[in-house]
Amino acid sequence: MKKALTVGSLKSQSAPAAASENDAPQKAEKASSNVAEPHENHPVPTLYFIQNGSAYSVRPDKDMTLLDSALQQGNELDFKCKKGTCGRCKVQLLKGKTILTEPNDQEKEKLDNLINQGFRLACQTRLK
Ligand code: FES
Repeated sequence: MKKALTVGSLKSQSAPAAASENDAPQKAEKASSNVAEPHENHPVPTLYFIQNGSAYSVRPDKDMTLLDSALQQGNELDFKCKKGTCGRCKVQLLKGKTILTEPNDQEKEKLDNLINQGFRLACQTRLK
């Protein structure tokens, strides 16, 4: 004997429960797990530079200057004005400079030809 199929007989017997507000944190956590984490094949950009004979490496924060990023990460850089006028924050970039913006007017005026040798004012230098 053939079994008759009806619309009701085709519905899943174990329908998933409706989503509740309690599911929201789990969904957010799952979504954030899709964000790429730093990996050895895709490392976080790092700047390497020297100031007054000491070497530093800093992972610049996109909304901060190189000086503020370095200070926040525990580097004791020399600086004074943070306005691009005293020149005390001058650093010489060694590696990673491609992620920085072009020198601004204060840097050009204060450093002149030193910019061509990789010198920058850490208080004025920002990420692209
Ligand atoms: S702290 Fe004075 S020029 Fe950067």
